[in-house]
Amino acid sequence: MKSKIMVTGGCGYIGSHTVIELIKSGFETVIVDDLSNSSEKSLDRIQEITGVLPHFEKVDLANQEKTMKIFKKHTDVKAVIHFAAHKAVGESVEQPLMYYQNNLFSLINLLSALEKYRIPNFIFSSSATVYGIPTNLPITEDEATQRPFSPYGNTKKVAEEILDDVVKSAANLNAISLRYFNPIGAHESGLIGELPNGIPNNLMPYITQVAVGIREKLMVFGNDYPTKDGTPIRDYIHVVDLAKAHVIAVERLLNQQNEAAFEYFNLGTGKGYSVFEVIRTFEEVTKTKLNYEVTSRRAGDVPQLYAATNLAEKKLKWKAKKGLKEMIASSWKWEQNVRGEG
Ligand code: NAD
Ligand code: WQD
Repeated sequence: MKSKIMVTGGCGYIGSHTVIELIKSGFETVIVDDLSNSSEKSLDRIQEITGVLPHFEKVDLANQEKTMKIFKKHTDVKAVIHFAAHKAVGESVEQPLMYYQNNLFSLINLLSALEKYRIPNFIFSSSATVYGIPTNLPITEDEATQRPFSPYGNTKKVAEEILDDVVKSAANLNAISLRYFNPIGAHESGLIGELPNGIPNNLMPYITQVAVGIREKLMVFGNDYPTKDGTPIRDYIHVVDLAKAHVIAVERLLNQQNEAAFEYFNLGTGKGYSVFEVIRTFEEVTKTKLNYEVTSRRAGDVPQLYAATNLAEKKLKWKAKKGLKEMIASSWKWEQNVRGEG
């Protein structure tokens, strides 16, 4: 058995896929999650897929005392992968304080615990949203970060700045920030995937919910963007590819292969697809006609966003392998499984 890794938010969408990849690579895992946007069922699913039940602590990481207690209990943790956060862009505009409190208090409490318990390795879930409206495409990591449109996005930018300061001040702390583009897809088993609370904010779960009959139609937010077909372009990435990048990043830190105390990498495929292309591919892959209507633009949407992937390829030796059709097929399988369960 390799080292013990703490995965915050490990019952959630990206976290649960990452726990599976960590277990498959021989790591011991401890999930810390308050289940505010997930359920304990994830633990059974992880066990069903891997044969291993991860350790689990139900704790709100925004609570400092409780956060410290878990570290006291798991003193042998060698690295923390920090997924836990609220992530709904629209909700963050309505309730900014809730987002700053949850996302930044959690980060600060974790970093305080790492300092106290001398745990030197930290991986952070960041987002392409830190690039704001990009001036150059594809976006490289050299691109300056900008104030994101939403408070949610700003928690990611501020978190990276906090990390930068803390890593500089600490003798023994190494961090990697992973900037995800648009994660979609689900595990090939169909046992875990994204399960949004209420009306989905994101394109792919909205599409699958329309196709399965839960929602009437998809609203396409604008077809008057300066892109090939007028709809915005995004870099969709399969969640399992994303999960694998976390295992590589954690190994990089554990093996002290990092070239700077704080590194950041884009995680995308480098390929952009428009909303219409996603809809067409969905229809083709699933042989289902999708009901949709073009409506006005959504505030804060940028026309185009796709990653330069060279740095992750060169330094992490990681490259996304799964294409759009595989992402869509797995999202669809997951949606059908979930609904079949009732
Ligand atoms: P998710 O909501 O499925 O998972 C987050 C998990 O964190 C949930 O299980 C939730 O219960 C838990 N959590 C939230 N606040 C907590 C707290 N205070 N204490 C303990 N647990 C808490 O979200 P996800 O899509 O898996 O996202 C994981 C991370 O990746 C987040 O930090 C998110 O901001 C980031 N990210 C996500 C996307 C995306 O499109 N999904 C894109 C870029 C970045
Ligand atoms: C993709 C495209 C929409 C829904 C968001 C966050 C970002 C990151 C990932 C966490 C856009 C269009 C969508 C719909 C539509 N999250 N769309 N109808 O906005 O690129 O990124 O999720 O960190 O921070 O901002 O992803 O899936 O919401 O939208 O037409 O009902 O689909 O306009 O062009 P986005 P998305």
